[in-house]
Amino acid sequence: MAVEWSPGSWRGLPALQQPDYPDQEEFKRALTELSALPPLVTSWEVVALKEQLARASAGQCFVMQGGDCVERFAHCTSQRIANQLKILIQMSLVLVQGSKKPVVRIGRFAGQYAKPRSANFEVVNGQRLPSYRGDLINRPECCLDARTPDPQLLLRGYERAALTLNFIRALVKGGFADLHHPEYWNLAWATNSPQADEYHHLLKSITESLKFMENILGVPAGGSDRIDFYTSHEALHLGYEEAQTRQVPYRPGWYNLSTHFPWIGIRTTSPEGAHVEYMRGIANPVGVKVGMATPPDTVLRLIDILNPANEPGRIVLIHRFGVDKIDAGLPPLIQAVRREGRTVLWICDPMHGNTRTTASGIKTRSFDEIENELSRAFDIHAGQGSFLGGVHIELTGENVTECTGGARGLSEQDLHRAYESEVDPRLNYEQSLELALLVARKMAGER
Ligand code: PEP
Ligand code: CO
Repeated sequence: MAVEWSPGSWRGLPALQQPDYPDQEEFKRALTELSALPPLVTSWEVVALKEQLARASAGQCFVMQGGDCVERFAHCTSQRIANQLKILIQMSLVLVQGSKKPVVRIGRFAGQYAKPRSANFEVVNGQRLPSYRGDLINRPECCLDARTPDPQLLLRGYERAALTLNFIRALVKGGFADLHHPEYWNLAWATNSPQADEYHHLLKSITESLKFMENILGVPAGGSDRIDFYTSHEALHLGYEEAQTRQVPYRPGWYNLSTHFPWIGIRTTSPEGAHVEYMRGIANPVGVKVGMATPPDTVLRLIDILNPANEPGRIVLIHRFGVDKIDAGLPPLIQAVRREGRTVLWICDPMHGNTRTTASGIKTRSFDEIENELSRAFDIHAGQGSFLGGVHIELTGENVTECTGGARGLSEQDLHRAYESEVDPRLNYEQSLELALLVARKMAGER
């Protein structure tokens, strides 16, 4: 580890998953340009999120983090963004109802453009091509031109993130997220959904409670009737993250101002690696994916490096074991963290340990396995005297067929109908809402 941290001190350490740009001078010019552009988020917001995460780690609120596995530049459209917000708002209201706590909403959006890959190359039709690493790096089409990392895409990614965030902020501020108007969040094609009744019933009760409160207060329930979103993405491309790491006038420290909540993916969690070095010096709250690849002693080392002062709200451990491994893997982690007196927020990602490939070669996940891992996570935490403080879901507001199961019983034969993900399979709108309803029931049952 470097003795003194700086936004670029990671450069002295092994950096996994970084693209190989053929033109290094152009790459440097793109980073210089990026470092002069204004930030996407502010330090006030980052500090506010950290405070909320500290509250969540004390059990006072519940975190819902969700969105695409990878955002695509072509999907930066008003309809896609609005649909994503709709499903996230709907799920979060269901979770508010179930947990009886405020829900902190964090999107995997406005910057989730870079993906780690298990292989640097793949062979397509006899041609050896660099793997697709997300629109920030290259394009998925199967030709050398598309797959060659292009530094200009870093600037396009920053711009798409800014456009996305600008629209989200305008929608939220302009009344889209106003609890008095739940009709704004209806997804037209989903009115016949098997969960529609249960959701509408719940919404009615939320709207009625709000009206009741306003009648008693005699004024609009300011603050409680508006919904905020924070942004997050995997901090994978370290040059991109470094270029947006800034000091601010009235606060000490360095902030990554490309997102509120960056996380370290499971493939880049080495305590000796460049990603951990970069993350240790920024003031943002940071997520760390943990699972079978990160045994308890590694997780404790990561916590020591990333949060030596044991500041509440600084570290979120996002565990992703898989339904068949969580029983063995999670309890020792919880015990180790407790034994060392460390304050962390535990979130369950029930997606990434449950990815399978069908006999015909399609990547999928089963709704039941996702639901079962989440359910086990609640039980295991409770059994260990801990608690699960949030969920992390890959989902979309679109009507895709990428995961099997759910109330409509999607089968492997249905997957081809509307499979569009270039990377991981996401829950569609109905499956996401169904999962939220099941989690809400589980939380309500635990009280
Ligand atoms: C992801 O969240 O999309 C991801 C790649 O997760 P993990 O690092 O846990 O595999
Ligand atoms: Co993913």
